[in-house]
Amino acid sequence: MKREDGPTVSALVRETGILDPNSTYAYVLLGDRFGQHGLVAEEDGKLIGFVSGFLDPREPSTLFLWQIGLRAEARGRGLGKKLLNAFISLPANRRARALETTVAIDNLPSRRLFEAFSRDHGASIEAIGAYGSELLDGNSEEVIFRIAPLPSHTSG
Ligand SMILES: CC(C)(COP(=O)(O)OP(=O)(O)OC[C@H]1O[C@@H](n2cnc3c(N)ncnc32)[C@H](O)[C@@H]1OP(=O)(O)O)[C@@H](O)C(=O)NCCC(=O)NCCS
Repeated sequence: MKREDGPTVSALVRETGILDPNSTYAYVLLGDRFGQHGLVAEEDGKLIGFVSGFLDPREPSTLFLWQIGLRAEARGRGLGKKLLNAFISLPANRRARALETTVAIDNLPSRRLFEAFSRDHGASIEAIGAYGSELLDGNSEEVIFRIAPLPSHTSG
């Protein structure tokens, strides 16, 4: 993900109506300062999805996935899983041994995506905590999931 992707990613996030919209500035920073940890998906030259994250500064063997999203017309054809696999395979991420993310308690497609990803890799998926709605302006609770172990990449 590059800094130039920021405005388009920001627009895509708003378009989903599901993801928590951050400022365009936040997505520009994400692309510029954490771009090596995230990526965008393009089809016919158009940005159709993205995934963002970073290594947890407290525990760099844990890769935190912040947001993943696809345009509505790109969903339901395996691209979410493809993006996740590409995300954990990025040179900057591939040494991580665990993936953590949060899923809004009422977001079934997101929950299913992470369950399917875990199953495909023979990894466990465990709820290890939550950010409660009292922290989130009354929005749905975000359950923290930990998926481990991630597949080990032998090269790079
Ligand atoms: C979550 C999201 C990225 C999933 O991407 P996707 O490409 O549609 O998912 P995939 O096609 O790779 O499917 C992955 C798994 O989830 C399941 N799944 C996907 N959408 C589903 C839905 N609406 N209902 C139930 N299961 C669903 C699939 O069946 C598949 O499981 P399987 O391998 O057991 O068959 C996509 O729905 C999206 O962009 N949603 C809006 C943004 C969002 O909610 N992001 C997550 C919060 S950070």
